[in-house]
Amino acid sequence: MRVVVTRRIPETGIEVLQRAGYEVSIWPGPLPPTREELLEFAKDADGLLTLLTERIDAKLLDALPSIKAVSNMAVGFDNIDVEACTARGVVVCITPDVLTETTADFTWALILAVARRVCEAAEAVHRGQWRTWEPLGFLGQDVAGATLGIVGFGRIGQAVARRASGFGMRVVYTDREQRPHEIEQQLRATFLPLDQLLAESDIVTLHVPLTPETRKLIGARELALMKPNAMLINTARGAVVDTDALVAALRDRRLWGAGLDVTDPEPLPADHPLLQCPNVIVTPHIASASEVTRARMAQLAAENLVAALRGERPPRSLNWDELHRKG
Ligand code: NAP
Ligand code: GLV
Repeated sequence: MRVVVTRRIPETGIEVLQRAGYEVSIWPGPLPPTREELLEFAKDADGLLTLLTERIDAKLLDALPSIKAVSNMAVGFDNIDVEACTARGVVVCITPDVLTETTADFTWALILAVARRVCEAAEAVHRGQWRTWEPLGFLGQDVAGATLGIVGFGRIGQAVARRASGFGMRVVYTDREQRPHEIEQQLRATFLPLDQLLAESDIVTLHVPLTPETRKLIGARELALMKPNAMLINTARGAVVDTDALVAALRDRRLWGAGLDVTDPEPLPADHPLLQCPNVIVTPHIASASEVTRARMAQLAAENLVAALRGERPPRSLNWDELHRKG
């Protein structure tokens, strides 16, 4: 069996594939393969270990009929047409849970950095602009005691809520469904409809997957509902926010600021108007990027792929049950 890994990943993942006896072809470039390069590189392969940079759709699957499984080294799977995979008997796997805490930590890094203008202040020091202690210099917003609005109260959203208790915050959330009373009590979180959450929160943080329903969930209307000193944090997917509307809101100083680990488009060109806006921190999609977590993700992605190719139930598959119900 031959498996293709679409970029260099932590060695733990490669070792799992090699121990299973597969021939492992790793895309050698620092950038993702183009569609044409991937088609050529993965010709006759049995499985793909992909990243969120690869688009896996019906066209690609039809051009690579030997593929039996696609294992994404990510929890988000908006890059994969799961229905097209299922229709062709291709198993799809993802890496949830192992990155939850690391991603929640990074969400907090952005919350604190935007609220307290950490990057702007540190850059001023690097530029030699620290002249004295200034009573009016780099004034920020308090996080302690603020209202935190969490959009998408799944694994990461709840992990972000758990961290809020140390800041004595009021936590409100929205999701497709209200959580059971015990979870709300444990996390001291109150369910609100999206519009009310936007109107009442000082910090709005996004944790929904990118789906047709969540694309541009936060647009001009929603941004206008937010408080003037509120901030928007996005570690979910860039396209959950209407970028043009966000640029307009920040330029007009209708928001305090934004912390974005994900953008639309991604990567963000250096001359993008978002980067000219005041108090915006953009990081290059690194919320899960700790050494331990990336190793765990690589290992789980590899274990998923090995199980799927052996015809066994993978630890985390999106369509195994559906495929096997079909017989
Ligand atoms: P999760 O456990 O599935 O949580 C997502 C939550 O959003 C679920 O409760 C889901 O409800 C809810 N949701 C879905 N559609 C919604 C809608 N239209 N309105 C309101 N709520 C909705 O996923 P997770 O593990 O927390 O990950 C969340 C996302 O974070 C991933 O999909 C990925 O895109 C992103 N992520 C980014 C990074 C990064 O590096 N920046 C790292 C990890 C994850 P249901 O359960 O009912 O669907
Ligand atoms: C990262 O963005 C992921 O979905 O794991």
